Amino acid sequence: MKVIEVANQIEGGQVAFDLLKEKLEQGAKTLGLATGSSPLEFYKLIRESDLDFSDMVSVNLDEYVGLTGEDPQSYRYFMQENLFNEKPFKVSYLPKGNEDTAEEETAHYNEILAQNPVDLQILGIGRNGHIGFNEPGTPFDSQTHLVHLDQSTIEANARFFEKIEDVPTQAISMGIANILDAKSIILFAYGESKAQAIAGMVNGPKTESLPASALQAHPDVVIIADQAALSLL
Ligand code: GLP
Repeated sequence: MKVIEVANQIEGGQVAFDLLKEKLEQGAKTLGLATGSSPLEFYKLIRESDLDFSDMVSVNLDEYVGLTGEDPQSYRYFMQENLFNEKPFKVSYLPKGNEDTAEEETAHYNEILAQNPVDLQILGIGRNGHIGFNEPGTPFDSQTHLVHLDQSTIEANARFFEKIEDVPTQAISMGIANILDAKSIILFAYGESKAQAIAGMVNGPKTESLPASALQAHPDVVIIADQAALSLL
């Protein structure tokens, strides 16, 4: 794993943007995308750039169950607002977060991923070390699955909702094996609340109780983080 310390999210976004340009020059065609606050500056730089994704495919990590794509809290809406409206891809896939069809959808999403191998995957990290919505205990060989969110994740994500009761309790997420299939990975981490997860991911044992530690097995991971997130390394 390569760790790059940056002063703040703006610098982190720039470092990631430069890496993205390199990958595009090398022929990247499929981007794996993430939501959350950590990639926002990166998406902003893309929006302001002259990059053209109209011939490319994007696949997102996850989506809440029970929110339609028009719901401002859905990840589909987040992606539209922060990237797709300005920079449309040929196709942009996100899991369909419908409880009744979850089983078909997970199988369908695995097929989509098999047909569209990810060249560059963008990741954030949860305070408990989750990647995508793969909570502690998720098997490293997991494929796309229906997830019951940890209470700590619900609490962390409540800041985006009016009240905590509005936070969905389930999501559909790429599995850890799907994430590891990406050719290259960039993981953003900012702030002290991520420090423990980052220390465990980089220096700790590879363990399913810290999902991000699975990345130790991947040959091309770049961690872009600020001093606070790296403070326990
Ligand atoms: C959510 C998302 C993750 C994201 C994490 C961290 O749980 N499912 O993909 O990495 O939050 O979010 P943030 O970047 O806002 O700290």
